[in-house]
Amino acid sequence: MQFPKRVDKLGSAIFERNDWRKQVYLKASIKNQSPNLIDLSLGSSDLLPPKCALEAISKALNNPESSSYCLHAGTNAFREAVASWAKRRFEVDVDPGTEVLLLIGSQEGTAHLPLAVMNPGQTGLILDPSYPSHRGGLVLADAHIEKLVLKAKSDWKPDFGDLKTSQWEALKLMVFGYPHNPTALVGEQIWLEEAMEQCCKHEVVLAHDNPYVDLAIDGEAPALLQCLGWKKWGIEFFSFSKGWCMGGFRLGFAIGAEKIIKALSVCKSVIDFNQSSALQAGAISALASAGQWPEQILGIYEERRDRTLKALRLMGWDVPLPSMAMYLWMPVPDWAIDQEWNDEIFASELLIETGIAITPGQGFGSGGEGWLRLALVRPVEELEEAVARMTPWWNEHR
Ligand SMILES: Cc1ncc(COP(=O)(O)O)c(C=O)c1O
Repeated sequence: MQFPKRVDKLGSAIFERNDWRKQVYLKASIKNQSPNLIDLSLGSSDLLPPKCALEAISKALNNPESSSYCLHAGTNAFREAVASWAKRRFEVDVDPGTEVLLLIGSQEGTAHLPLAVMNPGQTGLILDPSYPSHRGGLVLADAHIEKLVLKAKSDWKPDFGDLKTSQWEALKLMVFGYPHNPTALVGEQIWLEEAMEQCCKHEVVLAHDNPYVDLAIDGEAPALLQCLGWKKWGIEFFSFSKGWCMGGFRLGFAIGAEKIIKALSVCKSVIDFNQSSALQAGAISALASAGQWPEQILGIYEERRDRTLKALRLMGWDVPLPSMAMYLWMPVPDWAIDQEWNDEIFASELLIETGIAITPGQGFGSGGEGWLRLALVRPVEELEEAVARMTPWWNEHR
């Protein structure tokens, strides 16, 4: 049987190859007693969620409602907690009845959005590099994909001058996201304002994927909710995975224009029954009673960033200082380029020879070629151990 082309287009072969190499390394390391795998390839936090959230989940688990289907009405309390958070965080009035939607993570929401707002063949614009669900959602919806390429020589800044009026006119959806994964750049509110203004002018849906809103180390994270126009053409995605360390619980939400929230909600109604009300109870408790949590973990990430960067630079790797938490975005070094190693070969050699897993930049689109992403998701001692383990390998090859 011939499967549709979109299945081939969707698969990111590079992530599959990376995962496969990790499995091979793990198996071999048990047999050969080689060093343990230090997995810095995923943006999945090693830190615990706030205690009040875990307690609320644990208490709610005994309630039969927690293991029943949860319809949209059952998410009222969650949506109200989100609206109160938005008021405190951004001083905006959000209607919990019509402008908020519970998601099974920001990835799920951004992947399903194109199905809700586009017809097949219509054009969607993404940043390149960007998080894979942005492209993946457009592929699922059989959309035509355009890319706004971010370049190292422009410090990864989006240049709207690259977009002609005719391109804006053809667009139906633009997906943006700052603080930005994988370049680890916080970004600026003015970029978002410019994008929102153009989207309002050309009647384009602007989706802003903002799971790192609380994880800006230097500067202030941009937010679509602070732009004029979001109530007409905007939708912003938030997550409990990053600032609240609940990645495995799969909880996120969208706040946006009523018509966009409605369309996404209709699509989701044939896809899922919302997240369990027990997990929602944890999220409500985090928003209401652990407001300082993201700020506390930001301090942990800052120390990890500074110490890992110092060790890498001492080793001889000229890694730029990232302004957001969780990632380092690192150029393939010149000595590796001289040996014709691209980012994938570099990551693969590093993993096979040292047991340290990082992600090749081209996994986020061709704009990420020649770069590597290291996730600061292990304790600082382990991150320093990773660099210490990497150093003899680096010296041998350079
Ligand atoms: C930009 C971006 N969006 C979405 C996600 C996924 O978030 P969630 O766990 O809420 O699905 C990630 C995870 O790394 C991300 O970097």
